[in-house]
Amino acid sequence: MTEVLPGVHWVGAVDWSVRIFHGYHTDEGSSYNAYLLRGAEDEYVLIDTVKAAFAEELFERVCQLCAPEKLAYIIMNHAENDHSGALPLVIDRFPNAVIVTNEVCRQNLCRIHKTLNRCKFKIVNDKSELRLENVSFCFIPVPLLHWPDSMMTYCPTLKALFSNDGFGQHIACPERFVDQFGDEQSRIVELMREYNANILGPFQDQAQIAIKKLAGVDVQTILPAHGVGWRGPDVGIVIREYALFAQRKQTEDELTIVFQSTSGATRRIADALAQTAPLKIHYADLDFTDLTKCALYTYTSRFLAFGSPTIRGAMTPRVEAAMHYLRGLNLIRGRKVLLFGAYGWAEKSVKAMAQLATAAGGECVGQKTVKLRPDDQWIRNFESEV
Ligand code: FEO
Repeated sequence: MTEVLPGVHWVGAVDWSVRIFHGYHTDEGSSYNAYLLRGAEDEYVLIDTVKAAFAEELFERVCQLCAPEKLAYIIMNHAENDHSGALPLVIDRFPNAVIVTNEVCRQNLCRIHKTLNRCKFKIVNDKSELRLENVSFCFIPVPLLHWPDSMMTYCPTLKALFSNDGFGQHIACPERFVDQFGDEQSRIVELMREYNANILGPFQDQAQIAIKKLAGVDVQTILPAHGVGWRGPDVGIVIREYALFAQRKQTEDELTIVFQSTSGATRRIADALAQTAPLKIHYADLDFTDLTKCALYTYTSRFLAFGSPTIRGAMTPRVEAAMHYLRGLNLIRGRKVLLFGAYGWAEKSVKAMAQLATAAGGECVGQKTVKLRPDDQWIRNFESEV
């Protein structure tokens, strides 16, 4: 069992096989991190639990470190099942444990797990302090990051932030900190961006409020509930990433091309764009690329291009689904958007995509259509305009 800080042990679970989560694809699995602290000689504190399927693992890990009756508090930062699923399955085996959480989270926990209604709760808010002999805790509500009940727990004694979903990434691995990845740290940053893109997209304003709250807190270690933690100089890296996202400044000179082609004509336009545009290119052919990656690519792209042929008088259902998905995540807003596509006899798809992109807050900067297929001259003209 890993001691992540003096007196703080990781007692969570690694889910190597999970591949879908919140509707997005977790190609690298995930983890549900829970942490056990020794608060006093005979008093321990558990921060968050794990998914129900891993309840026994959690219980056994805690019991390797303390007798069940010595668990005094279980701090619940968030009610969602991946962190609370084990709670109703283990709570009776910790006879003295009081659940510490905010009132919204208490209500959500009791709605999701009816049997928790009979448990002892201690309700906390941003003015509360939980003090034990060795450590104390205070609480930072971060509503809508990403549920109304979400909060973070700060331990001033250790200068550690237990950030729950915040600053997390979906990855299954034995490492507990990003600095253990050596040259591959950028992989973790990309996974965090993928999480932000697919989950937090609609909540940039709430992220900004959270970043302001954290500005006055001396954080030297961040221990999230998914993936690996951040310590030392890496804390600054992850806070800056979030601050850029919160200020909608995470985009760069990159172009994401999201398209589907039925006959190859629309693909030829996509390929010409990819080969000509003087930008870093993300190429998302929806026959092969899932929405999760579309969101990741779009997250950092200042420029977007959507391509679809007209089929049955409309854009393809897959392109429409992708645009709606990205719209819901606020990933079209503020971007410059090009629309393109081939048509047979009804020139409909590009106009429909332009309407959708505009409604999503994008700025349409061009619409290119071609009848049946683009010939070499059409492609040369198109490339000269790019
Ligand atoms: Fe990791 Fe919102 O649950």
